[in-house]
Amino acid sequence: MDKFVIEGGFPLKGKIKVNGAKNATLPLMAAGLLTEGISRLENVPYLTDILTMTQVLEGLGVKVRRKNRTLEIDSTHLFYYEAPYEPVKLLRASILILGPLLARRGHARVCLPGGCDIGRRPVDLHIKGLRQLGAKIEVNNGYIEASVKGSLQGSSIYLNVPSVGATENLMLAASLAKGATLIRNASSSPEVVDVANFLKHAGAKIEGEGTNLIKIEGVRQLNCVHHRTIPDRIEAGTLIIAAIITKGEISLEEICSSHLTSLFVKLRQMGAEIEAVDRWVRVKGGDLLKPIRVKTLPYPGFSTDLQPQITALACLARGTSLIRETIFQGRFTHVRGLRKMGARIEVDKSQVRTKGVGCLKGAVVRTPDIRGGAALTLAGLAAEGTTEIDGVHHLDRGYEGLEEKLSKLGAKITRVED
Ligand code: UD1
Repeated sequence: MDKFVIEGGFPLKGKIKVNGAKNATLPLMAAGLLTEGISRLENVPYLTDILTMTQVLEGLGVKVRRKNRTLEIDSTHLFYYEAPYEPVKLLRASILILGPLLARRGHARVCLPGGCDIGRRPVDLHIKGLRQLGAKIEVNNGYIEASVKGSLQGSSIYLNVPSVGATENLMLAASLAKGATLIRNASSSPEVVDVANFLKHAGAKIEGEGTNLIKIEGVRQLNCVHHRTIPDRIEAGTLIIAAIITKGEISLEEICSSHLTSLFVKLRQMGAEIEAVDRWVRVKGGDLLKPIRVKTLPYPGFSTDLQPQITALACLARGTSLIRETIFQGRFTHVRGLRKMGARIEVDKSQVRTKGVGCLKGAVVRTPDIRGGAALTLAGLAAEGTTEIDGVHHLDRGYEGLEEKLSKLGAKITRVED
């Protein structure tokens, strides 16, 4: 397994572009199953999660071709309804093929998906919602077996929690259902809006995306589209925190600042300087970071995917910070590594309390998952001495060439290949 070796203490400086969003590309690839013929996604990052989703689609008979940052998805020959076990087991987002398969094939057999080990990740809302659309679904021996007689029927669905994935899956399925579907307490996240925009270009009738009430009027067929994926707000947020933790100053291009509002609020409270316009942001870290209180919430609240990174930053603030995780209970896998680096940090149920220290010290640590690994990388950039981060393959799932981007900004970070 590859590792990162980081020599800490170098402030990040310069400007860099942000890639297309992983969490938009994955559901967009699932949306490609609904359009007959060739759909094109632009601004697709090079990530192992995208490769895994490609394998899931190919296992269904779909042709996926990559030309630089454009992905062509040809679902003309969606021959199969059983998804290949191996890639589905690796990727939580592979559950998003369930709705499209039901809508187009009337059948789906998908094993319960895997993904990051960040706590309980049920798929009950996906299943319950699809049942409300008329599907018969059973879960046997780790497999979801789903079928529908004739076509899916529009329905009124309430989600107990505004799940991003369930909103996407149901919106995809409902686009080809008969009649109208209402999704109440839907996720309003930018990635859901991106998927809705793809579907609307393809001919779907959708209203209310970006709010908690989405209305979909089913259509008979969706056409091929050419769509550009939105910028990755989590990659952007990670790089922004990297600049602040190293007391540096960077600007990011090709972002969507409005997607990062909750992060900017918290970082300004901590004392960072942030100047943001529509597609661009400049951020400057200061010498004295103030402690912070953060609670993760569904969008537009503070993203759980940036919680480990801001926790790393809080470890260096002057005073006690409280960070509460309300989305994924087990998402404190980064704490062990941070402690090894000298952080004073305690976990109490769904909350961490950090007492800021003057500096972190380099150590040998292991990446627990994508965002936990990002947090340890940021801590390593700020730490005194050398940090070794094992298990970089987790980071490759969600960050394209993270070490190259950080090096370009002046960090001393190298990948040592196994
Ligand atoms: C997506 C993101 C992930 C992010 C998460 C929350 C992708 C590929 N991944 O994951 O990076 O951390 O949103 O913003 O887009 N839940 C249920 N039942 C369900 C589904 C979800 O109880 O059927 C719960 C989950 O356990 C969790 C909460 O709902 O507590 C939010 O999960 P959800 O929004 O569904 O996350 P994902 O779509 O899996």
